[in-house]
Amino acid sequence: MKAKILMQKEDMYQLNTYRKIPLVITKGKGMFVYDIIGNKYLDFYGGHAVASTGHCHPKIVKAVEAQLNKLIFYSNVVYNDSRAEAAQSLINISPKGFIKVFFCNSGAEANEAAMRIAKKFTGKNEIIAMKGSFHGRTTGALSATGIEKYRTGELLQSFKFAEFGDINSVKSLITEDTAAIILEPIQSMAGIRLAKKVYYKRLRDICTEQGIVLIFDEVQTAFGRTGEMFAAQKFEVMPDIITLAKGIASGLPIGAVLLKDKIAKTISYGEQGSTFGGSPLVCAALRSTIEIMVKENLAKNAEIMGKYIKKRFSNLKNIKEIRGEGLMLGLEFESDASKIVEAITENGAIASLSESKNVIRLLPPLIAKKEHIDKFYKIMRKALEK
Ligand SMILES: Cc1ncc(COP(=O)(O)O)c(C=O)c1O
Repeated sequence: MKAKILMQKEDMYQLNTYRKIPLVITKGKGMFVYDIIGNKYLDFYGGHAVASTGHCHPKIVKAVEAQLNKLIFYSNVVYNDSRAEAAQSLINISPKGFIKVFFCNSGAEANEAAMRIAKKFTGKNEIIAMKGSFHGRTTGALSATGIEKYRTGELLQSFKFAEFGDINSVKSLITEDTAAIILEPIQSMAGIRLAKKVYYKRLRDICTEQGIVLIFDEVQTAFGRTGEMFAAQKFEVMPDIITLAKGIASGLPIGAVLLKDKIAKTISYGEQGSTFGGSPLVCAALRSTIEIMVKENLAKNAEIMGKYIKKRFSNLKNIKEIRGEGLMLGLEFESDASKIVEAITENGAIASLSESKNVIRLLPPLIAKKEHIDKFYKIMRKALEK
């Protein structure tokens, strides 16, 4: 009864933007979340790839609690110990050459900043993005988003869209005014789409040859998700800018832009900014997340568990393909999988669809173990029988 009342309240008072799973989740621990009446759900969605270290990891709770009692917030007009340590930790685990970070609050903001910085650096105005991409909901990020259904309202005109994975398609769109190419190394919303390794290398070459800034939107792919700390390392191609968000502070709101020296140098005081970006509280969670990632070797775990899922799930009924890297996987079925996702929830787990209705996305916390995968497999089989 209480659950019903709470659902009605949200529907009544919150803007009608998300089609919600009818669950009132009030607690989380590790790989599981609990609804208001105590039902337990195995989380293979990770709150949209955010619960990277699992729900309420004790070390995150401890670090955030300690910071809460010390200083919740002060802006970037002063220095702060939590921010200083987090920035250093982040740069330390970043691929070679990335020496500066700009902190903001979300993936969309990080992409906005990245594209503005690329335009300033090159003195050019056009951006090439990919069909099927998703980069966020602010005007610039949405203008770079290549899924038609989201592209509503007035958008920026200086964006062109290439076929993801097709190097000739990108080439045909380059002009003298191309500032940047932006892409998710693995397209998530489009249904976990990857390109061949050589594609990323060719993109790199083209950008280097023509002075174009290569931006990897690693909002979903970074921090161990693909089996490496960054997807750039997985594909062995270094972009010029990397954007981050989602799971890098284990659920506290954050966005970040990683920059190389030559680009970072072109930004001066007042050109970028964010009141909440780099807040002491969020930075405590970021630093603790990095510590956990490294200590518990979560990238490696993601790689091993991803392989295990691929092997274990390949014989499921009606499955066409399992693709992706690490714990960013797409299970493609012969037909619409919406009913399967509903049945998964009825059987005690959470997974997500994608823009391609035949594809179920798995984005579990990176702490997943074989026992969780085996449990999810059983739930999935039951769902499929239904
Ligand atoms: C790849 C990618 N980029 C950017 C975003 C936007 O992030 P945010 O919702 O934090 O603005 C998302 C969100 O789903 C995303 O998946």
